[in-house]
Amino acid sequence: MTDGFFESYLPMIESRIEELLPTSGEKYGEAVKAMRYSLLSGGKRIRPILLLEFYKLCGGEGDKALNFAAALEMVHTYSLIHDDLPCMDNDDMRRGKPSCHKAFGEDTALLAGDALLTYAFSAAAATKDLPAERVLKAISVLAEKAGITGMIGGQVMDLSFEKTGTDADGLECMYLKKTSCLLEAAAMCGCILAGADDTHIEYASEYAKKVGLAFQIIDDILDCTSDEATLGKPIGSDEKNGKTTYVSLFGLQKSREKAAELSAEATEILGKFDGDSKNLTELTKYLLDRKY
Ligand code: IPE
Ligand code: IPE
Ligand code: MG
Ligand code: MG
Ligand code: MG
Repeated sequence: MTDGFFESYLPMIESRIEELLPTSGEKYGEAVKAMRYSLLSGGKRIRPILLLEFYKLCGGEGDKALNFAAALEMVHTYSLIHDDLPCMDNDDMRRGKPSCHKAFGEDTALLAGDALLTYAFSAAAATKDLPAERVLKAISVLAEKAGITGMIGGQVMDLSFEKTGTDADGLECMYLKKTSCLLEAAAMCGCILAGADDTHIEYASEYAKKVGLAFQIIDDILDCTSDEATLGKPIGSDEKNGKTTYVSLFGLQKSREKAAELSAEATEILGKFDGDSKNLTELTKYLLDRKY
């Protein structure tokens, strides 16, 4: 993946997020500061980039999907704020800085997460210059993939497996929800906003399911093999919390093989689109080889 690829996306994503966010200094002071702190503190912005790439792949033009891409990053960032709370994974660092609750306290972090989630839907609904029925369909996909039958459902399973343990099937089911679902929202909403048909929206979903599984397996590997400075979040978090992970079930070698296999299968699905999928092929490879 060339640096130019990220350079072509990151400034516009960052500036749209900044534009959409409320500013601090208002009566909601601390919570607004916490929203801004977590959202403007880096992050790879993979989900907005995926959304914008699928939008282009399906013939979408200009920056009309940018609000939606920023909205998706708000949902993702809220999920990270809550994921780090002491009642969840209890992690003190995120994106190379103290996690939101370490910087602002648990109460404010909880509310900042809630505020980002709801704010995201205002931002998504403010998508202009695209047919309203596409925007409505995309909002409904985002809500479903973020909610109890999606990402939150996966987080619920994750917590319950800390107590009961799980097997390979349970783990896959949990990863498909807690991690694949938001990536599915990215890929599917990009297609929907571009006016793609249901067949192609389904291809996007199948692609993202596989990429999400690979992404979480790599996340599990990095939790064991990286270091805090590189990763920007604590290592050994999964072991500390007694999580069953792909690595704890199958070891590092098999985990790497499985992630590579899923990534190759995902890349193959991209060939079903008529448009040029070169960027997405490279992005898929980058996600497999990533170091943080
Ligand atoms: C972390 O997501 C949470 C997982 C689903 C594993 P990212 O690795 O995309 O985190 P940021 O946004 O780059 O910080
Ligand atoms: C991520 O799983 C799940 C979310 C939905 C936020 P992890 O708990 O492994 O993510 P990190 O390692 O804290 O980023
Ligand atoms: Mg977690
Ligand atoms: Mg976590
Ligand atoms: Mg993790």
